[in-house]
Amino acid sequence: MTERIFNFSAGPAVLPLPVLEEAQRNLLALPGVGMSVLEVSHRSAAFEEVIHNAEADLRSLLNVPENYKVLFLQGGASLQFTMVPMNLLPKESSADYILTGSWGQGAIKEARKLGTVREAGSTAEGNFRRVTHQDELILDPHAAYVHYTSNETIFGVEFQSEPDAGDVPLVCDMSSNFISRPVDVSQYGLIYAGAQKNAGPAGATIVIVRDDVLARVPKGLPAMLDYRNLAEKESMYNTPPCFAIYICGLVFKWLRNDIGGLEKIYALNQEKAKILYDAIDASDGYYQGHSEPQCRSLMNVTFRLPSEELEKKFAKEATAAGLDGLKGHRSVGGMRASIYNAFPREGVVRLVEFMKDFAEKNG
Ligand SMILES: Cc1ncc(COP(=O)(O)O)c(C=O)c1O
Repeated sequence: MTERIFNFSAGPAVLPLPVLEEAQRNLLALPGVGMSVLEVSHRSAAFEEVIHNAEADLRSLLNVPENYKVLFLQGGASLQFTMVPMNLLPKESSADYILTGSWGQGAIKEARKLGTVREAGSTAEGNFRRVTHQDELILDPHAAYVHYTSNETIFGVEFQSEPDAGDVPLVCDMSSNFISRPVDVSQYGLIYAGAQKNAGPAGATIVIVRDDVLARVPKGLPAMLDYRNLAEKESMYNTPPCFAIYICGLVFKWLRNDIGGLEKIYALNQEKAKILYDAIDASDGYYQGHSEPQCRSLMNVTFRLPSEELEKKFAKEATAAGLDGLKGHRSVGGMRASIYNAFPREGVVRLVEFMKDFAEKNG
């Protein structure tokens, strides 16, 4: 048995061990099917059951209302940066973007290529140390939609509740905190998330879209980029990412049955993040959190050390100690501990012990 280390990667990221074990057990043949999920036709009854159960479990976890479609697509969250404006931004209209980090900047950059967009609020000036406050947003009541990023993976800042977009459809890139806490889906016109953080492996992208928003999709879009077409074909216009959807389904089942739902995982996520932020706060400034305390992400904990040399040393020694993937993104520097749903509490405790020890030896 290969020994598993603690994987702090921002994505693809750690998956629940029972999920990996079940996938391993059933890799050669799905029970009662006699073929691997890697081999069955996506049109087969066996795969239909896989995708149907995955959708049903996700709907149950998030309490997705009846008037929303759930899609399993490809192309990553990055393709959604294009698909959202292509489907929802008519020529004569404009869309509002709220910028709280580099993923929001990526989304607006793509939208600009396709239509008129406005920055409705941004925290770029302070290098994205916080999310926006409602009262600083300048929202256009006639906008086609308002786009925001609920958790900025690189800077480690997270909204505690969604911005109020009034009657304008709210569109959210929820990639890095999807299903990490309860969310009121009815507040949204469209939610999208790359699976490879909390939901499963790379290769599947989940879109949850309200029917009246789907109805706005113009005719004549390329079929693979047309939400209405993909929804009508129930994510099976072409061959879907079968294996990735299968693993997402196992993750949703694990969250429902083993963990007990989103309230439960939220409490566990809060507890894990508190252990780590408390250690940062108790370090007498040796470790400096990037985010302002009230915007701290429960998923991506970003912090700096007194110098870049020490940061390099920290990352190297942490890896040697079985704590992998802690080097921060180059645009922020420092360290980033991604502690998604499946990341064990024990790994956070081990990291905190390592941090104390490192600060003592290198203070
Ligand atoms: C918030 C957010 N949005 C978008 C992306 C891009 O996702 P993908 O690589 O699936 O295109 C990421 C990836 O890390 C992300 O964290």
